Amino acid sequence: MSVLPASPRSTASFSSFSEFSGSPPKLASDTLALLESFLSSKAEEEKRFDDLAAQAAARVASLALNVHIEEPDPPMMSVDEYRLAFGEDWQLSQFWYSTAFATRLAKSVRAICTPESKVAFMCCPTAFVAFQHVNPLEGARLLEFDERFRVLAPNKFIHYDLNEPDVFPENLRESFDVIVIDPPFLNEATNKGVIQTILQIIKPNDGKLILLTAPSIERILHALYDKPPIGPLRLTALEPEHRELANEFSCWGSWDGAQDFGKGVVA
Ligand SMILES: C[S@@+](CC[C@H](N)C(=O)[O-])C[C@H]1O[C@@H](n2cnc3c(N)ncnc32)[C@H](O)[C@@H]1O
Repeated sequence: MSVLPASPRSTASFSSFSEFSGSPPKLASDTLALLESFLSSKAEEEKRFDDLAAQAAARVASLALNVHIEEPDPPMMSVDEYRLAFGEDWQLSQFWYSTAFATRLAKSVRAICTPESKVAFMCCPTAFVAFQHVNPLEGARLLEFDERFRVLAPNKFIHYDLNEPDVFPENLRESFDVIVIDPPFLNEATNKGVIQTILQIIKPNDGKLILLTAPSIERILHALYDKPPIGPLRLTALEPEHRELANEFSCWGSWDGAQDFGKGVVA
């Protein structure tokens, strides 16, 4: 049996330990002042956050009350405001992009559009919000499972479930110039569902696909997406960034020259 050396902490005698009992330890006055100033700025920061979150929630509630399909959509909120109002639901694999990345993506997508372009944002609400906030297009649509996002743009929201890949409004068939997609789960079944839809709604000759997902499933991606009229997929210059997700992510484009997509674009 080995004998452990006495821990430095155990060298104090009972009598020296008992000297501390009774009166609590005191901080030096300058340390105390520093601690008080830290705690008060933290409390102010939390109050600012709570106020902003309450304002964003109130705005979403008032949007919900005013949903009239025949009226134009309200101006799009900012990504920061959206993030305060819409928490991530991890059951639905929701991990929002950082504001800087969502803005870079929005500007990069806008750079390959004309004012008449029809753009589908599939399973990527933050990207849709950033795009419509920065430089909105009438032809933008959000295809999403989570109905919470309908209030953001009632005329542009389309309920979409990748488990029912053939269910979508008939007027979307072969209509999109650009499709941006971030599939919720990193597996073959998910990607089979979404590509089945994409092949039916993208413009068959010159439609562009932008796919954001994890390089860990790259083999599955090439097997499913590299077939005409979509592929081959090219790795783009854009490097996706999330707020709460550390997984490595990449971005692919389906057209000649997609390698330069996002190059030099700043938020
Ligand atoms: C990985 S997240 C991508 C979000 C993206 N990072 C963003 O910030 O916009 C995937 C999205 O797929 C949606 N989703 C989950 N289950 C779905 C389903 N069965 N069909 C279609 N979309 C689904 C989630 O609601 C979520 O918005």
